[in-house]
Amino acid sequence: RTVYVNGQYLPETEATVSIFDRGFLMADGVYEVTSVLGGKLIDFGGHQARLERSLAELDMKKPAAFDDLLDIHRELVRVNEIEDGLIYLQVTRGSDGDRDFAFPDPETTEPTLVLFTQSKPGLANSPVAKTGLRIVSIEDIRWGRRDIKTVQLLYPSMGKMMAKKADCDDAWMVEDGFVTEGTSNNAYIVKGNKIITRALSSDILHGITRAAVLRFAREAQMEVEERNFTIDEAKSADEAFVTSASAFVMPVVEIDGASVGDGTPGPRAARLREIYLEESL
Ligand code: PDD
Repeated sequence: RTVYVNGQYLPETEATVSIFDRGFLMADGVYEVTSVLGGKLIDFGGHQARLERSLAELDMKKPAAFDDLLDIHRELVRVNEIEDGLIYLQVTRGSDGDRDFAFPDPETTEPTLVLFTQSKPGLANSPVAKTGLRIVSIEDIRWGRRDIKTVQLLYPSMGKMMAKKADCDDAWMVEDGFVTEGTSNNAYIVKGNKIITRALSSDILHGITRAAVLRFAREAQMEVEERNFTIDEAKSADEAFVTSASAFVMPVVEIDGASVGDGTPGPRAARLREIYLEESL
């Protein structure tokens, strides 16, 4: 695979970053994951807008202009012959060659920009979309700025492992009795014609897929209610689902051992998945 590091396209085995990079030492960095379907980038503009916001919130410079980043994305898709898959982009604060809690001088320290592709043939035809996800709930003990897409992913990784241990596919995180989001996706329940999902705040990541799906839901005459919900309400909902750039719309069929609805993917989740993929292609 050919990857991109700080202005260079290199074989992945030849790409290097300093051991003092603050991304490595302090998780001082942000990232984006953009999906590729049929060789086409999905919602590139949305991901760039969020990247700019994440960087600004952390007082970091954008390492390249929108058009240059678009060129890099396209070039990586081309050279790696990605039909379906993901592009991972990461910006870390770099380093001034030592370890220090205070940020280095941005005038003399360049951020580190890394991009690589992940080929996922048939990404849009995942068989899981037909069977649905089984979810376990866990406590949300992450930091308070989940709206910034940082590479600080230890707790979400632990969450995935807790899900595995519970023989589930993923975890939904709960804070003060209310669901925040999935380990790497936004969480929804459906009651009648109503799509319910937590409102945007610093408690959750502002999903790019979430924005698109809520728009499509409204266009399809579904009601959208942005509010908190509990695990108990989710268990007794008609349907549940998650959204992310890599999973699109993925139905949830079980939460903490209880079937959601009849325990199969619900019609609205299936319809929203269909619309999302149609609109993306
Ligand atoms: N995860 N919430 C969290 C905590 C996430 O990590 C993600 C994305 C989302 C969904 O955001 P979007 O629709 O913009 O992908 C919500 C990516 C896919 C990842 O970490 O791989």
